[in-house]
Amino acid sequence: MVAAEPEVETKLEQLRFLTPETAEAVRSTYGTPAYVYDVASLKANARECLSFPNAFGLTVRFAMKSCPNAAVLQLFNSMGLHIDASSGWEVRRAMAAGVPADHISLSTQELPRDFAELLGAGVRVNACSLSQASAAALALPGHHVGLRVNPGLGSGGTKRTNVGGPGSSFGIWHEQLGEAEAIIAKHGLHVARIHTHIGSGSDPAVWQRVSGLSLDLMRRFPTATHLNLGGGYKVGRMSYEYSTDLKVIGEPVKGDFEAFAAETGRRLHLEIEPGTFLVANVGAIVSTIQDIVSTSGDEGHTFIKLDAGMTDLLRPSLYGAQHPLVTLPAGGAKRGPPRPYVVVGHCCESGDILTPAPGEPDVIAERVLGEARIGDVCVVEGCGAYVSGMSAKNYNSFPEAPEVLLGEDGQLHLVRRRQALEQIYQNELPLPESIMS
Ligand code: LLP
Repeated sequence: MVAAEPEVETKLEQLRFLTPETAEAVRSTYGTPAYVYDVASLKANARECLSFPNAFGLTVRFAMKSCPNAAVLQLFNSMGLHIDASSGWEVRRAMAAGVPADHISLSTQELPRDFAELLGAGVRVNACSLSQASAAALALPGHHVGLRVNPGLGSGGTKRTNVGGPGSSFGIWHEQLGEAEAIIAKHGLHVARIHTHIGSGSDPAVWQRVSGLSLDLMRRFPTATHLNLGGGYKVGRMSYEYSTDLKVIGEPVKGDFEAFAAETGRRLHLEIEPGTFLVANVGAIVSTIQDIVSTSGDEGHTFIKLDAGMTDLLRPSLYGAQHPLVTLPAGGAKRGPPRPYVVVGHCCESGDILTPAPGEPDVIAERVLGEARIGDVCVVEGCGAYVSGMSAKNYNSFPEAPEVLLGEDGQLHLVRRRQALEQIYQNELPLPESIMS
């Protein structure tokens, strides 16, 4: 009879696209911490999004806030993906990376001062409030504009990632669409697009319901040709979490578009703008375990201290997000059985923690990991989306970590250097003498 696997063994997370050898190669070539992105998975995910079910045409926009490195933008641009930008700065960054202006759509909480210039260059703008609609109307009367609508319903993987419903400031509240229509009529604007995005890590059932509500909104705007249903498709980072099947959620929406066309004669173009789905599991942080300490008593723990932390990955501290952690013995050495650890980052901040309780950033939790020693590698998985671009960068003056692509041929390519200390303070000016005591 074969003995059952010990329970803790089955709970250990595995590497996604790295091997212990490639992780070591990253460490010896670029040092740690370093971000690594897998080109094969980036391409596979892009292809999957490009085959999202659609009736009359599809544009996939990469929500670039999730991973704004130019190399990633260029790869997706070369595959025919367009861009969803969240600020004027992101628009300029995408253009600097070579993305054509008319492939960029801007949905922003803060309309950039130069937005008229961006509109003129061909950037698509979705007005996200009544004042943005007025500003767009005044800047370019007669122009085509999109409207981002808060449909009254939202859904997110955490409370902080739900951006629909009365508790959210994102988009024009659906009951104020009459006011939006008045602004549009007054200035001779044309509504070309309706846009809804209800949250990240959304419940697929709620997403589908909102898709139906969004289609209903199209009836109010007869000039609208494009419906953008946002992003938010949940991806499991931990092995026990589920991932959205795009075919399953997309097919009914395709049917709704066909029914709408049969009824109105309008063949609507579908846009989606995923970030997480495209990149969440294609990135990892390779870090080194730089210390191990312990406390005792009923509430005692063994703590692993990484040479990375909230300066590189903020999601656990911000949302109580769970990221797989895989310890790799240096040089492939043999270690004892797995055991529970609390894993923390390198900042002088008790909130710099990589193992919070799920959804509770204030509560530390233990995680069973392969036994580790100082000098071992720890790979943090699920670090492609909202990680390098959304960190507490430079806190404690830790420099920004490098970003590396793992090519389909197994070669490593540096796409962002490690920041130098001087780059952290290069814009600071000396204290004026008049202030010195
Ligand atoms: N479109 C709009 C208008 C958005 O605001 C977002 C995300 C997306 C698309 C892409 O959503 P995704 O497919 O990545 O879920 N920082 C959080 C998520 C908040 C993102 C905000 N907007 C995270 O770490 O999960």
